[in-house]
Amino acid sequence: MKYKIALLAGDGIGPEVMAEAVKVLMAVGKRFDHHFTTHEGLIGGCAIDATGTALPEETVTLCHDSDAVLLGAVGGPKWDDPNARVRPEQGLLGIRKALGLFANLRPVTVHPLLLDASPLRPERLEGVDLLVLRELTGGIYFGEKRREQDEHGEWASDLCIYSQMEVERIVRMAASLARARRGKLTLVDKANVLETSRLWRSITTRVMQAEFPDIAFDTMLVDACAMHLIRHPADFDVIVTENMFGDILTDEASMLAGSMGMLPSASLGSIQSPHTNQPVGAASLPQARIGLYEPIHGSAPDIAGQGKANPLAMILSVAMLLRHSLGLEREAQAVETAVHRTLEAGIVTGDIARPGQTAASTSQVGDAVALRLRDA
Ligand code: IPM
Ligand code: MG
Repeated sequence: MKYKIALLAGDGIGPEVMAEAVKVLMAVGKRFDHHFTTHEGLIGGCAIDATGTALPEETVTLCHDSDAVLLGAVGGPKWDDPNARVRPEQGLLGIRKALGLFANLRPVTVHPLLLDASPLRPERLEGVDLLVLRELTGGIYFGEKRREQDEHGEWASDLCIYSQMEVERIVRMAASLARARRGKLTLVDKANVLETSRLWRSITTRVMQAEFPDIAFDTMLVDACAMHLIRHPADFDVIVTENMFGDILTDEASMLAGSMGMLPSASLGSIQSPHTNQPVGAASLPQARIGLYEPIHGSAPDIAGQGKANPLAMILSVAMLLRHSLGLEREAQAVETAVHRTLEAGIVTGDIARPGQTAASTSQVGDAVALRLRDA
């Protein structure tokens, strides 16, 4: 089969990890006889430098014309002026919104060989296999922003707003995914304080009772969840939560896996139900078929250009792309197996190297994964 993949490498370590993802994608093509064509687009700081905007129109068009999108990372000190009118992050938020990608899937698993890489004691990590569904196109990220001055000085506000439709579609997607896993869903909110959280709680409870009575459903306040993720991480199966809570909790959860450099993500507008094969989510949105895949880590300007970045989160994002956008489950598993074999061979970057183990470079890790795909 032929597939068109958009590559938005972005800034900092983005281009370095993207190069390794492309190696792996091409190795998948060779082994399974698929033809991937890749097309590069600008996003973030590099787009600002070249065009004056963080998300040029051509990039949006390229993504719409592609079967799936791979994204590296955006941002860096060069564009960090908090008062700047154009900011790299606008590119990332803009493309999520433009493609209708309301659900961000962030799976967290712990590879047995990386138990030492986590700051948590190994016995706490046993059985950790959770999936966070972060709402991605609403809430405080996208509400009206104000910055004003009155007689007392400056003030600012960020509006957090959610509609029934926005909550229902992601809850349905989360519950469907839970059904295909261990059958447990936790809604994380701050319903003791926030009205938006009270809306999430009442809608989620209603949807779960009416449509998913077979799923074990509970709720947890976000502060308690931050604690439970460290105390009993293996208790969680699927977590569904709003945009900002999901952003914060997944950086925390990445430490279970040992490094931010290990966690991939998929941003989707719909999924095929694992049971009925019907689309779940906003299938009526014309754009909803496109998925965007990116590591959860940022552009890491401190190590950019040094060959130190861990490419595995980006490579595992390729596996998610094969699975969720192209329906190539066998190919996705082959990538994941090749990553495991690379870890077993001890070919790892410094962030997950054990004491005494020599760190491999970004491209050595990418080569090792691609080689294991070819030789499998
Ligand atoms: C993420 C990042 C982004 C976010 C930033 C770069 C805007 O932290 O994808 O988690 O907050 O969504
Ligand atoms: Mg984040």
